[in-house]
Amino acid sequence: MLFIEALRQFQFITKESMAFIHVSLVPILGADAEQKTKPTQHSIKELRSLGISPDMIICRSKEPLHDTTVQKLSIFCQVEASHILTIHDVSNIYHVPLLLARQNMHVLLQQKFNLASPAPDLTSWQELALTVDRLESQPQHTIVIVGKYTGLQDSYLSVLKSVKHSAILLQANVNITWVEASDLQKDTEAENPTAYSKAWELLKSAAGILVPGGFGNRGIEGKIAAARYARENKVPYLGLCLGMQVMVIEYARHVLNVKNANSVEFDDGCEAVVVFMPEINPLVMGGTMRLGARPTTISATLPTSERSIASRIYNLDQNSDVLERHRHRYEVNPEYIERVQNAGLFFSGVDDRNERMEIAELPQSQHPYYLGSQYHPELKSRPGRPSPPVFGFVATAIGQPEKISEAGVLWQAHEAKLKAARNTSPAKTTRNSLLSPATSALGKRRARSMSNGMDSVKLQLE
Ligand SMILES: *[C@@H]1O[C@H](CO)[C@@H](O)[C@H](O)[C@H]1NC(C)=O
Repeated sequence: MLFIEALRQFQFITKESMAFIHVSLVPILGADAEQKTKPTQHSIKELRSLGISPDMIICRSKEPLHDTTVQKLSIFCQVEASHILTIHDVSNIYHVPLLLARQNMHVLLQQKFNLASPAPDLTSWQELALTVDRLESQPQHTIVIVGKYTGLQDSYLSVLKSVKHSAILLQANVNITWVEASDLQKDTEAENPTAYSKAWELLKSAAGILVPGGFGNRGIEGKIAAARYARENKVPYLGLCLGMQVMVIEYARHVLNVKNANSVEFDDGCEAVVVFMPEINPLVMGGTMRLGARPTTISATLPTSERSIASRIYNLDQNSDVLERHRHRYEVNPEYIERVQNAGLFFSGVDDRNERMEIAELPQSQHPYYLGSQYHPELKSRPGRPSPPVFGFVATAIGQPEKISEAGVLWQAHEAKLKAARNTSPAKTTRNSLLSPATSALGKRRARSMSNGMDSVKLQLE
């Protein structure tokens, strides 16, 4: 409600640079398969009573809308028929932009915003959508994500998508399967042996093991067990945020023999291999995280004189910075860095002040792909431009390790493009011309946050 009211008021400031698009369900019911317009009519009425009139309606439906349905919606919702679009079920989600383009959505937006941009070239996008269709018939590679699945799918969505983006570029059919972290633990073996053996069976069937970020104590021992299994059995492993801390805790316990190693997040009395970051007040939750895009300096070579995996995945031939997004409160305890590295787990990425450990990896002579990042690389993954750490992981897992730099090549090209765009006057870039000149301050801010890889704000009108 608050958001709707904010949007309503926004119209007074910048009506000409806003478009309201209402997304609504058109169910198909009954023996005669009637397309029901009532739910849409009701929600539009509600929306209008809140002071917002949609410029466009997008109908979700099983089938394409009949002309009669569109006419009905047009009359009762007072929206021109040409502005009522449909997204019916398609074989994969990448067909959706093509579907919208076929219904001239870009033309409607151009008219609305008075833009003179050329028609979009969706050839490569179409290729992508067709590739995804084709992949389904190919042999499967199983990637296991070890986490808390139940009820938290949304928070893992970007992890899931980043694996998909990588698989598509590799033209591989990847089956992402979840293993509940706590099911891998000894206490589950006693309480629910079936769940325990099923979880381990799945983990052992994995071509790659991914441990994503997560909060809360539950399952931490299961994640540590998964990291250990991946390390000892040379199964490709990717640790994201907590998943990287888990690598370090596991290494401290089983290689350095620090039996009680843990994170202070889970155990106050442990050997604190992972600690609260010093500048963060442990008593205040929320707003106290290290957040957003920050540079990580990647070492091209490890102390063993081998080339680092980190530099290979980002396609760097010398020490360089990459900008990735962060969201964490805990970090690897600086007091353990030397011991961990002396024992062979290396920090090939550090922050720009050389204080925070950002990337941990085993050298490739020891393990095909054992890498974790304190940051969340999945957040910058896009279709056609996957995240380098995720891509390197998937490429190795499906048996194509020779390709691990491919996403890095695309990454470098994109970073160069962003840099060039930043160097020209912001007012002249295409991205900014999408925004009204009256809101150029907002525009600049938005352009900056986009270049940081932020998704545009998604508002839900239901
Ligand atoms: C993915 O793998 C799991 C576990 O092996 C299996 O149960 C599931 O059916 C597979 N999914 C697809 C779509 O084949």
